[in-house]
Amino acid sequence: MNKRIRKAIFPVGGLGVRFLPATKALPKEMLPVVDRPLIQYAVDEARDSGIEEFIFVTGRGKTAIENHFDYSFELLQTLKDRNMKEEIDAMLALSPNPGQIAYVRQQEPLGLGHAVWCARHLIGDEPFAVILADDLILAETPCLRQMLDVFEEMGGNILATMEVPHEHTSRYGIVDADLSPKSLRKIKGLIEKPKKGNAPSNIAIIGRYILLPEIFNELGKKKVGEGGEIQLTDALSSLIGTQPFYGLDFSGKRFDCGVKLGYLEANIAFALERQDLGPSLRKVLTNYGF
Ligand code: G1P
Repeated sequence: MNKRIRKAIFPVGGLGVRFLPATKALPKEMLPVVDRPLIQYAVDEARDSGIEEFIFVTGRGKTAIENHFDYSFELLQTLKDRNMKEEIDAMLALSPNPGQIAYVRQQEPLGLGHAVWCARHLIGDEPFAVILADDLILAETPCLRQMLDVFEEMGGNILATMEVPHEHTSRYGIVDADLSPKSLRKIKGLIEKPKKGNAPSNIAIIGRYILLPEIFNELGKKKVGEGGEIQLTDALSSLIGTQPFYGLDFSGKRFDCGVKLGYLEANIAFALERQDLGPSLRKVLTNYGF
């Protein structure tokens, strides 16, 4: 029987330079899609998937994230005074329970692999999940839940994957795997942001991982990879052959909210899904010729 996954790491130390000046004083994970910050979607996905402990790896200038998940006495009092029951319920439902959130600081921005390694003492010796809030996924069953279902059956490391255009492979961690049209693939190799012509496939890693704790030993070696950073993909790659690795082509639509176009599309897609906004947004869009 495989161990249950209870903990998820949210690396939120990144600078967000692509969204300057919006991200000068605001963490990029706090950018809203419709009316919820990106990090809220990530936490909700984890919670809806059964995660019980939420570990944020933060950096300088990220206190707005801690405040967001905190109890806001003044705000609640004001809402109570105004008898805004719906809003009060929404505010109270937003945060995990006391003691379920932990924050650890990544003192230097040394890469995703380093960020995950910074949480090693909070994870200990059990399998865990990693969620990158930039990758927003609209799905009937939360993407992480789909991955946990696979983990509960097969064990091993599970990476969320999807096909990307061949000309985009240098933006992602790329998987060397069977190209058969299966949704679950055994991974034979991994390469972070391969140069043009070097990609073993066009199947990319998307920001959801289920990992076994042995990864921390690999990350502890602090090998510097692509972009001068300690890459999670490199550490995973060196464990291939010693542990099973699977790529799951999840069901759902992924939006790359780390770039402007993806972020704008996510806003439209999520608003169109909403009963309170979808019909009127459709009308507004017709004014623009859609
Ligand atoms: C990170 C990972 C990369 C993965 C991507 C998914 O890259 O290093 O392997 O494909 O997330 O979004 P980043 O986008 O942080 O450069």
